[in-house]
Amino acid sequence: MLAAIRSAAVLGIDAYDVCVEVDVAQGLPHWTIVGLPSGEVKESRERVTAALANSGFAVPARRVTVSLSPGDQRKAGTGFDLPIAVGLLVALGALSAECVEGLALLGELGLDGAIRPVRGVLSVARHLAAASPLRGLVIPPANVAEASLVRSLCTFTAESLASLVDALRTGALTRAERPIETAASDDHVDFADVSGQASAKRALEIAAAGGHACLLVGPPGAGKTMLARRLPSILPALTEDEALEVTAIHSVVGLLPSSGGLVTARPFRAPHHSISSAGLVGGGGIPRPGEVSLAHHGVLFLDELLEFPRSALEALRQPLEDGRVVIARAALSVAFPARFSLIAAMNPCPCGNAGEPTRVCTCAESEIIRYRSRLSGPLADRIDMHVTLGAVAPSALQHPSDGEPSATIRARVEESRAIQRRRFARIRGVRCNAHASGRWLLAHGGIESPARELVTEAMETLKLSARGYHRVLRVARTIADLAGSEVVAETHVAEALRFRPR
Ligand SMILES: Nc1ncnc2c1ncn2[C@@H]1O[C@H](COP(=O)(O)OP(=O)(O)OP(=O)(O)O)[C@@H](O)[C@H]1O
Ligand SMILES: [Mg+2]
Repeated sequence: MLAAIRSAAVLGIDAYDVCVEVDVAQGLPHWTIVGLPSGEVKESRERVTAALANSGFAVPARRVTVSLSPGDQRKAGTGFDLPIAVGLLVALGALSAECVEGLALLGELGLDGAIRPVRGVLSVARHLAAASPLRGLVIPPANVAEASLVRSLCTFTAESLASLVDALRTGALTRAERPIETAASDDHVDFADVSGQASAKRALEIAAAGGHACLLVGPPGAGKTMLARRLPSILPALTEDEALEVTAIHSVVGLLPSSGGLVTARPFRAPHHSISSAGLVGGGGIPRPGEVSLAHHGVLFLDELLEFPRSALEALRQPLEDGRVVIARAALSVAFPARFSLIAAMNPCPCGNAGEPTRVCTCAESEIIRYRSRLSGPLADRIDMHVTLGAVAPSALQHPSDGEPSATIRARVEESRAIQRRRFARIRGVRCNAHASGRWLLAHGGIESPARELVTEAMETLKLSARGYHRVLRVARTIADLAGSEVVAETHVAEALRFRPR
């Protein structure tokens, strides 16, 4: 007999329908799974047979064919276990086809029949809610929190295969509903901990407000890492749309805690410099998102920037410009969102003391040149703000600063974000100044003519590229927003220019 069960799979961060067909025929006992299954999909045969046997269902020795359609799309993941098991029971006549009508199923099976969590449930739920009407989606209990973020879709759950089959037979499926919990941040770091370094603090405030990229250059122990680690405490909260996008990406990678639904804190990703380019921008046979996508709508912090492999750094060029990464393979090409602000830290030279008046640099000039050349011109040009920090003065450390606490800075950041949201309300894909196009800013950004002249002049003196020109305008717009000014004046541009490398 033949059975067809609805299910879904994720490609990139978008889901698509998969129909799981199961055919049981007379013949020598044999299992075949077709539809370009990857290793873990092929292994579902062992999980499903053991789970069925341990749940008390007799599986007669017959020829079983499972087809996952569309058959020309490569399938990965363990989520097909549940639809295959239920399809097999329907094909064997242990369950009527009406019981599963209008339902989509997704879940991994333990050998004991337990229904275990899978990745990408939020993407599947969003896709099914928008697709043809459905009675409901059956998911593992541990995925309920993320699925319940999609309110327009009815979701059901069960602890085990046996209890699911019982519920399907009696029509008493359990509605999966859970209040949305939001994970609280357990970091208690504050900008007030950092003594001195006023210009770096100011640059990070501007970066947080407008979503700009920032590079901190300074001697060892000046507080670069310390400052960057405190950035999350001043980042603005995610809007609801942004939070859903971020949660979907984390779900695909399997990074959502089972207790938590929505990710509400802006992502802050700080990968180690031994990371590969695939780890940074995404990759794999069936492409998976990398750190740049996990940092979508948040911050990617690259500490010790020049220690990262050159290939990994150069791979950042596309996402920094376009806000997304396209990974092409022979058979498919997948685009991942990657709108992050890059925060990086590095020393000025191998010994770290170049340009420091109170210390002696022991590096030869050629060494410094070689060291610095690891940061390519095109990448440096994409970083809006370059900040040079000096060593902290002993007096500043002795009397710990009465610097501003993060809460005060964050309030200013939130206010300027609100202004930006109103400004870009009708422009698709633009949420803050860093995303605005140079042309739009020149036409509607409220840039006064003396301010324009100053940027044009600086283009000559600082040898700004056309990209640098537009980046200065964006940073100046954010500085004006932080000051609550409608127009971008000369002073705002002058401050933005201070952050361009000389
Ligand atoms: N401005 C500062 N105010 C208070 N403490 C500081 C400051 N700078 C450094 N420190 C102290 O020094 C420690 C090391 O600082 P941090 O790791 O940020 O240095 P860094 O600039 O990243 O150095 P490196 O270039 O070696 O990575 C901090 O954990 C903190 O205890
Ligand atoms: Mg450091």
